[in-house]
Amino acid sequence: MPVRSYGVTPDGATVDLYTLGDESGLRAHVITYGGAIVGIETPDRNGVRANVVLALPSLADYLAQDAYLGALVGRFANRIGGASFALDGVDYRLSRNENGNCLHGGRVGFNKAVWRVLDYADAPEPRLALRHFSPDGDQGFPGGITVDVTYSVSGGNTLRIAYHAESDRPTVVNFTNHAYFNLGGATTANILDHEVTIAAERFMPIDARLIPTGEMRAVANTPFDFRAPHAIGARIGEKDEQLAAALGYDHNYVLAGSARVEPQFAARVRAPGCGRVLEVRTTEPGLQFYTGNHLDGTLRGSNGEIYGKHAGFALETQHFPDSPNQPAFPSTVLRPGERFRSATEYCFGVD
Ligand code: BGC
Repeated sequence: MPVRSYGVTPDGATVDLYTLGDESGLRAHVITYGGAIVGIETPDRNGVRANVVLALPSLADYLAQDAYLGALVGRFANRIGGASFALDGVDYRLSRNENGNCLHGGRVGFNKAVWRVLDYADAPEPRLALRHFSPDGDQGFPGGITVDVTYSVSGGNTLRIAYHAESDRPTVVNFTNHAYFNLGGATTANILDHEVTIAAERFMPIDARLIPTGEMRAVANTPFDFRAPHAIGARIGEKDEQLAAALGYDHNYVLAGSARVEPQFAARVRAPGCGRVLEVRTTEPGLQFYTGNHLDGTLRGSNGEIYGKHAGFALETQHFPDSPNQPAFPSTVLRPGERFRSATEYCFGVD
């Protein structure tokens, strides 16, 4: 069924589940709570279909977790150090929800909103357009912003996520989706054998608060070099101050010096056992590669699987973390009259 009821939040808001695509190719499931992706089914090299994102059994499980499973993240994805920034000479204090930082938009981020459906079609190109309005002062951020996110499926193998935002006052924005992938399907315990390629010459070292130091370090001769494919697990246990700081990979890669107009190749991941391949293309300049280091077995999947450390990986396309405090980074400022736009494509295949 293309649309069905998914439950009701404690505030009495109804949540629906939308299905995009059919069994001839990629099929994605999205709920209006957090605009979260709760399933992506794709075939492996033998045509066997499986869900390739971490997913929870029910709305109650989504409401209870803080791992951002599949969710839309805003209004500022990733961290803002010290949960504060200055814009046009005014200091703003934000919701602190992690080590004194503002992570993923603060305590009540967009992942906890019930998004309004603007438009839904299941043929010829399946699409779901969602809207969220975040008022002036929400989580401490200035400006009322309207954010539209459109999920669409094309070619039977590509899920595109397009973001549009406008603000009524100067503010900062940064959006992403926080799907955790496991291309082996729900039954594989972790993603350490997945081979990753990332189109970046540089990554961003972080300090003890997990905030970028400002340096853009060459990946050459480090365990962060994914310019040629490497298994995630091949170097994750190496003695390295950056891997130790994050308990694995949890770093922003520099894809480009600024946002691009059309999506460009960012990363490719291949699961050698089943042959599934994921290619990520984006207009965004940054990519957070996160290897599920904080998954600790508390969350259980729809089939009872235990989501332990490295059960999934995320490739979060975004502007650079802490941009509002780092003038050398591409700007995340959005002013009235401007339109923020970005697009990311997750393209699935086999090899
Ligand atoms: C962050 C991680 C964090 C995870 C879940 C990722 O985007 O980089 O540090 O644990 O989101 O909140």
